[in-house]
Amino acid sequence: MNEFDQLYREVILDHYKNPRGHGVMEDADADAEGMNPLCGDEVTIYVRFGEDSDTIDEVKFSGRGCAISQAATSMLTEMVQGKKASEVAVLDKDELLDEIGIPLTPIRLKCAMLGLTTLKVALHKAKGTPLPQGLAGYDDLELS
Ligand code: FES
Repeated sequence: MNEFDQLYREVILDHYKNPRGHGVMEDADADAEGMNPLCGDEVTIYVRFGEDSDTIDEVKFSGRGCAISQAATSMLTEMVQGKKASEVAVLDKDELLDEIGIPLTPIRLKCAMLGLTTLKVALHKAKGTPLPQGLAGYDDLELS
């Protein structure tokens, strides 16, 4: 493992052990639950919008899962804070994968996408917009 991979792994582990934005939000403006049926891991995402009803003022998540799913969701909460919901609803998965920084196997990729896909569902549900085609590859995640 090279020194960059090592660094990324340490960052992932830190997010897993000290998840940012972990907790339940009462009266969220948007929320959704996602489950990876391969393992049963689950995440619920909660969002509060700012006064313009579009800027993401606060985002939290609860649930349990493997290190990658929890760390990726923790990273995601930092990435999307202060962004427009309309931008995040169509955020390219590569932006999150760049943040994670290490190559992932297809199974691990599904773990990493659990939080992002759930967040997108929460935002589209709240805005009443259709889910984008890009979610199609993650159809087998159970989302509600
Ligand atoms: Fe379940 Fe990663 S093993 S989400």
